[in-house]
Formats: sequence, structure tokens, C-alpha cells
Amino acid sequence: MPDPAFGLDFGTTNSAIARVRPGEAPELAHFGSDQGPTATFRSVLYFDEEEGGPEARVRAGPTAIEGYLDSEEKDGRLVQSLKSFLASRLFSATNVFGRTWRLEDLIGALVGPLRREAESIYGEPVVRAVVGRPVHFVNADGPEAETLAIARLTASLHNAGFREVTFEYEPVGAAYHYERGLERDELILIADFGGGTSDFSLLRVGPSHAEAGRRAESILGHDGVGVAGDAFDGAIVRNLVSPRLGLGAQFVSQFGRTLPVPSWLYSHLERWHHVSFLKSRKTMQLLLDLRREAEEPEKLDALIRLVEEDLGFLLYRATERAKRELSEAEATTFRLEHEGLRIEGEVTRAEFEGWIAGELSAIEGCLDRILGGAGLSERDVDRVFLTGGSSFVPAVRRIFERRFGAERLRTGAELTSVASGLALRAAELGAG
Ligand SMILES: Nc1ncnc2c1ncn2[C@@H]1O[C@H](COP(=O)(O)OP(=O)(O)OP(=O)(O)O)[C@@H](O)[C@H]1O
Ligand SMILES: [Mg+2]
Repeated sequence: MPDPAFGLDFGTTNSAIARVRPGEAPELAHFGSDQGPTATFRSVLYFDEEEGGPEARVRAGPTAIEGYLDSEEKDGRLVQSLKSFLASRLFSATNVFGRTWRLEDLIGALVGPLRREAESIYGEPVVRAVVGRPVHFVNADGPEAETLAIARLTASLHNAGFREVTFEYEPVGAAYHYERGLERDELILIADFGGGTSDFSLLRVGPSHAEAGRRAESILGHDGVGVAGDAFDGAIVRNLVSPRLGLGAQFVSQFGRTLPVPSWLYSHLERWHHVSFLKSRKTMQLLLDLRREAEEPEKLDALIRLVEEDLGFLLYRATERAKRELSEAEATTFRLEHEGLRIEGEVTRAEFEGWIAGELSAIEGCLDRILGGAGLSERDVDRVFLTGGSSFVPAVRRIFERRFGAERLRTGAELTSVASGLALRAAELGAG
């Protein structure tokens, strides 16, 4: 009997694992969390100093967030969106509580517990898998950067205990999920909007493709762009939060000139994968110096607290909450409160859509490229399957409604379609 097949979706924000036994439907692994069992394992790590010892303790997934929220001092370190570093030559390692962690160690420490939990859930080894990859990694500026990202991801997966991995494009995973239950062949566009990347595949799927074997001609194209949910969050930070923390404020330089507070500080704040690395002695010193000369020192005080007390995750939570609320409502209040620190502001959906106009046009540009590259127009596409957490953003959905018409859109399994489909792909490769 062929082995069970596993699919791993290591996401920027959420990860998931699914198993397919021959002839059966995918089964997602469900992990324990404060809110009950969930198929999505948050892609975060939390480091704190082990009591009574010099070693840092590291926790992954739901327990990482619980560890961070339970710690009163917030003197540990919560790291997220690690996937977005894979193609960056500039980031290779970081020091956490005196130990050097390479990116491959960090991702290994995240995926390792996920893999082991899946083993205990399924009651069997999980050491071979089809693993998703974005069409283009965040910040990959060419083929060399993509190769670097894949090499690092492979090393990370080996560190996590996987022995054999096969990569597949994430939207192809989503296509296999979508294909189940189709009664007729279709030419589909998959659009997967995640935390780090937006990925597209154009392909023919359906019973005849699933049964007669896949042919190269049934894949019409892939494309992607490193713009998704994290970039939407960044727009909220840039437009709503940073001005309340001194962005655009003035300080008096040592030569008596009036200068703006350096904007790179705020661009770090806009990127979840950078925010927990702001807290260095050099940055803290700079912030204290700026504060002394600032025209509105209370704004800098708030920024200093955010960095010094490692409140990046609270900033993330408040930002993400506001963004999600704007998927449902026309307006909301952004609110971050922590022991006397208070950042608050109203935002309407229309304002938010203005803030992400650049991101939306990058996404639409990618859509134009994939259709153009395949020599197709909207009319040639039977259905569009929208998936990934950021497909809930109404402005993202609207692009597809406008271009394809609402009746051709399908949605669903936003956070799990990729993992389920990768497991189906793994089963197909195993049976082949
Ligand atoms: N209701 C919602 N409205 C807006 N955004 C949402 C909503 N729900 C989830 N998101 C966003 O979806 C993103 C996470 O989606 P998903 O889990 O598909 O990403 P991922 O697979 O981890 O990332 P990637 O595929 O880029 O590696 C986050 O940015 C999250 O804020
Ligand atoms: Mg994803």
C-alpha cells in the first residue's frame, strides 16, 4: 500500500499540515490552543530566558503567543513573519539572549514542533512532505535570491526533522484543493493572498486531468508579488500609528537645525519581520538622543516604550484587528493600550483603501502579467478561486469582481486550502 502523503504549508502568518491516505480526503492536523483546536499553527517564535539558567527557551506556534502574553515583563522576544527573510542576503543570523541563531535555525525551531505535533496527532512519522513555496519570495530581486531562499528553506526543513521534501507552488496546492469535487474540467485562475505574498496560477484542472495524469500543457502560468497582508498592516502603521509616534515630527539637531525624526525607524515598525529586531543598543541610544531634542517628546516616549518593552506584537495585534474589522465594517477604531501607553485613532474603510492603493495596483499588475503571459483574457477563464487570509479584504475581492464578474468567483478554506492541496499533490506523486 502506498505511504500516507503529507503536505506542509509553511506560511508567513499561519502554517498547516495535512495528510492524505490513499483514496481518502485530506485530514488537517488540529493543534491545541487557548481558543480550542485549530488547523492553523501561528508562524511565530517566542524566546525568553529559562528561569535559573543561562539558556534561552524557545516556544513555537500557539504556545509562543501564550508565553508572550503571560509574561508580565515582556522581556522575551516574539519573532514573526520569518518567511519574509528567506530571500534577504542582509539577514543571515541574529543574537537572542547571547546565542546566535541563523535564519535556518529559527525556521527549524518553528517547523520542528509543528512537525512533531503532527506526528503525535497522526500517530506516525512525518518526515517526507510536499512543501509549498511562493512563486516569488518576498524581496527576491532575481533568480539568485529565489535559489538562496529555497536553499535556506530546505536547510530549515531538515533542521525541523524532515528528511525528504518536494517543493510545489502554493497556488498549485490551492488548485488541488479546489479541484476535488469538480465534475467537469475547468480552466482556473487561483489567487492566494497570504501574509507575505500574493500568488497566482493559471491551470486546467478537473476529472480528466486528475485521472489521466498531469500534462505540462495544463499549466498555463504562475506569477506572484511580495505584497499581501503584512503590507496592508504596514499601511495602517504608516498612516495611523507612526504619526502618533513622532513620524513627521521635528527635532533640533546638534547644529541647531530643525530635522524630521529619521523615517527608517518607522519603516522598521511597518514590517513585522523587522519590528522585533529594532531593540538594539544603538537604536535605543538614537531614540533617547532624539527624544531630548524632539519638539513633541511625548510621541517619542511612546515609540521608546514600544521598542524597549518589545510591544511589537501588541502593535501587530491592534493593527491586524483594525484591518479585519474593516473587512466587515465601514469604519473602526484602532486601539493599543498597555500600562499607561495608549495609541488610538479612527479609520474608515475608504481611508484604508486609499492607504493600500499602491499595494492593490501591484496585485492587479501581477494579474495582468499572468493573463498576458498566457495570451489569455478574462473571458477564457472559467472560474477564479480566491483563497488565503487576505482574500477577505473587500478591495482585493473587488478587483476580481470587476474583471471576472462575481458569478465566476469561488472562495473558501482560506487558511487551509494550500496545505490540503499539497497533501493531495503528495499523494498523486506517491501514486505516480
Ligand atoms: N478577515 C480578514 N480581513 C483581512 N485580512 C485578514 C482577515 N483574516 C486574515 N487576514 C490576513 O490574512 C493574512 C494571513 O493569511 P494566510 O494565513 O493565508 O497567510 P500565510 O499563508 O501565512 O502567508 P503566505 O502565504 O504569504 O506565506 C494575514 O495578513 C491576516 O492579517
Ligand atoms: Mg499562504
